[in-house]
Amino acid sequence: VDLETVLNIDEIEAVATKQISKKAWAYYYSASDDLTSKSFNNAVYRKILLRPRVFVDCTNCDTSTTFLGHKVKMPIYVSPAAMARLAHADGEHGIAQACEKFGAMQLISQNASMTPEQIVADAKEDQVFGWQLYVQNERAKSEAMLERINKLFQVKFICLTLDAPVPGKREDDERSKNIGSNLPVRAAVQEDASVSKTTSNSKTPSPPKSMGVGQSLFWGTAADLTWRTTLPWLAAHTSLPIVLKGIQTHEDAYLASLHAPQVKAIILSNHGGRALDTAPPAVHTLLEIRRYCPEVFDKIEVWVDGGIKRGTDVVKALALGARGVGVGRAALFGLGAGGKEGVERVLEILKAETETCMRLLGVEKVDQLGLQHINTRAVERD
Ligand code: FNR
Repeated sequence: VDLETVLNIDEIEAVATKQISKKAWAYYYSASDDLTSKSFNNAVYRKILLRPRVFVDCTNCDTSTTFLGHKVKMPIYVSPAAMARLAHADGEHGIAQACEKFGAMQLISQNASMTPEQIVADAKEDQVFGWQLYVQNERAKSEAMLERINKLFQVKFICLTLDAPVPGKREDDERSKNIGSNLPVRAAVQEDASVSKTTSNSKTPSPPKSMGVGQSLFWGTAADLTWRTTLPWLAAHTSLPIVLKGIQTHEDAYLASLHAPQVKAIILSNHGGRALDTAPPAVHTLLEIRRYCPEVFDKIEVWVDGGIKRGTDVVKALALGARGVGVGRAALFGLGAGGKEGVERVLEILKAETETCMRLLGVEKVDQLGLQHINTRAVERD
């Protein structure tokens, strides 16, 4: 496929769907139960209207911003998503190269299909990465990983995912459990020798022979994390700032802000609808925070993900107070559509759409975006 003819994120997904394996498609596409949160994540952006101002010079448009003080060229980053090599051999390293070209930040999943060292190997000096952690039942495994991550200067923070202490019920993924092996490509972390050494007398039972990819990856993940115990444990094993991913209420956003400066950002996310179905889209949580504890925005950065498919979605999230937006499936499907170049096309499309939207709104820089640019009445009635 000539990627130039692919004009939007839905078309990228359609191309990838034809090219990737059934098992990979089921894992990437799937979400919990009835896919309610997944579809609402995107639909909610259609309900927010934009309020363009005219007679404003829009010759220039600058999408650059910072995350935790690190410069990036666009407010769109790649969310941590497991198993990129299910889509294409370029894998997470290919995503890193695409991000380098567009000055975008990348969050590396703990369940990436390449090691973190491989992924950052050809990164440019100013490229920004975060590393995502699922704390393991056997803490020594996580501690060994953190020790490795602490040595990678390219990784600027640890993103601790909280919304999926157990996996959601993803029926598409479950249906594909009898196709091939549980994990057609291994998660790099499971291959690591220093990790397996610490687990020779492992208490975690072996997983059943046939499981969906999601279920297999979650095997061994800790379900006993708490505010009181986990953050001090993490502080003892890394001095990197912490980003908490999967915040879905204003109460938890507020609690997170009390943990600044160790916690420097939160990601409002329902895991792309893959954890608890009918959990709220990030837009609703943004509106809650604005209403009940707007001081959170001054204490920590607020990032969002879920359902981002258009530049107008990006702009609406920023207008509501998000510092940046993550894309999960769009990047994976980009990889499936054309490897590294497919991810580049995804970032190119989203950047160009964001610029067009900013210009037509009469905005030159991302930090000028605010509530004056949107009408959220239809969402607030929900
Ligand atoms: C994810 N997500 C995810 N999150 C995380 O913290 N660690 C992970 O390993 C994964 N793995 C993963 C795999 C796949 C296939 C998907 C689709 C998602 C969630 C991801 O970071 C993000 O929250 C959502 O993907 C955002 O929604 P969209 O952009 O996919 O709609």
